[in-house]
Amino acid sequence: MYYAGVDLGTSSVKLVLMEETGEIKNIVTKEYPLSFPKPGWSEQSPEDWYSQFVAGMKELLADVDHSQVEGISFGGQMHGLVILDKEDKVLRPAILWNDGRTQEECDYLNNTIGREKISAYTANMALTGFTAPKLLWVKKHEPEIFEKIEKIMLPKDYLAYRLSGVHCTDVSDASGMLLFDVKNKCWSDEMIEIVGIKKEQLAKIFESYEVVGTLTKEAAAELDLPETVKVIAGAGDNAAGAVGTGTLEHGMCSVSLGTSGTVFIATDEFAVDDENAMHSFAHANGKYHFLGCMLSAASANKWWMDDIIGTKDYPKEQEGINKLGENPVFFLPYLMGERTPHNNPNARGTFVGMTMDTTRADMTEAVLEGVTFALRDALEIARSFGVKIERVRLNGGGAKSPLWCKIVANIMNVKVDKINSAEGPGFGAAILAAVGCGKFASVEEAAAKLIKVVDTTEQDPELVAKYEKKYQVFRQIYPALKPVYEEIVK
Ligand code: XUL
Repeated sequence: MYYAGVDLGTSSVKLVLMEETGEIKNIVTKEYPLSFPKPGWSEQSPEDWYSQFVAGMKELLADVDHSQVEGISFGGQMHGLVILDKEDKVLRPAILWNDGRTQEECDYLNNTIGREKISAYTANMALTGFTAPKLLWVKKHEPEIFEKIEKIMLPKDYLAYRLSGVHCTDVSDASGMLLFDVKNKCWSDEMIEIVGIKKEQLAKIFESYEVVGTLTKEAAAELDLPETVKVIAGAGDNAAGAVGTGTLEHGMCSVSLGTSGTVFIATDEFAVDDENAMHSFAHANGKYHFLGCMLSAASANKWWMDDIIGTKDYPKEQEGINKLGENPVFFLPYLMGERTPHNNPNARGTFVGMTMDTTRADMTEAVLEGVTFALRDALEIARSFGVKIERVRLNGGGAKSPLWCKIVANIMNVKVDKINSAEGPGFGAAILAAVGCGKFASVEEAAAKLIKVVDTTEQDPELVAKYEKKYQVFRQIYPALKPVYEEIVK
């Protein structure tokens, strides 16, 4: 039997076809555009997601017996607002997780309603990327569209809806909407009232590994698959990635170097910190997790490589970097503003410390280091709660670079475990599909059977000490520049 895992990312949809042994049979990636209609805004077309998903599925399944496909599930970019009218037409482009337009709405929720109340209802504070502030923004700026909203959904749930006809979501992705009572895993009546929507506009909630339905006649015909293929709820990409790396046991940590950069800590029990410094979300295995999210991780490197120095050959560019810890150049990766820890959509990308002998390699190294320092900021918050983090599992595009793995190990002072599949969320989604179809009794059982650590990058104490000094300098740059960023965006 085969299980398809769909990682609906920000730059592309990645499809993974997994055999029941955990073997990856095929992987297909299909890109789609991302638009920035104004500085700090970020939108995508749900129709592009669906058409690229369909095109990708056809390639994915080209050489396999379609009758052997048993289930499909998802890992999706979180928080994006997808709204449909009563004819199921998408009302406007989706407003994405890295869109910073809702500062005013967040101020209203955190200051006028009050952060403590919002946190009591949802376990989180309002942040510009989250979904509820986006609804308030549409209500204020596009009232004629707000009036027409029949269904509110998240990006991956739009695909599940097109496939199954069921308006569904899962607990991990719902957690990032600021409409969900994470502790009790239900919609928050208080938030529904504050935002001015109706419960009927929200989706039916499932655990990530639960079956929401089977393919509709139309979807089955479009994909040339039997109507019996099961659609499994899936998870937000971070929770799906954590399933794909086996980050399930209490206290385990995974780090993702994707378009966003995240630090994910699995917990057995629900917990929330007093300052809401980290997100408190439901996990895809029925439990919970903490999450810290920076907005530009591998995407900052992609920007530097593709757009600024003009190369696609990342390994060649990184070849010349062999003396780590000596680079005087710093980079602040806040190209889309920043979420954890600064919660400031007005923060900006910045290089500091160049001299006439600074080279292209120094700046390339500074970008990799700057993203990692920014991720360490999130890790330090978790450490400040007393969570011991001594090893992490890395996933996301950036994890493919051995140099970046080494930088992560030494900046974070952790051992970095590489597992048998690098396809974090896509692999995790395929595992959720297999669990949903009954191949495994639980996500834990599947992970124990399918996921193995194949390599570990250890830290070098001398380099850790050098990076510790640099990190202490890095931490001073954002506070020093904060007033300047505010002037720039005025
Ligand atoms: C998590 C977050 C990002 C997106 C990226 O809170 O906003 O990791 O899920 O796809």
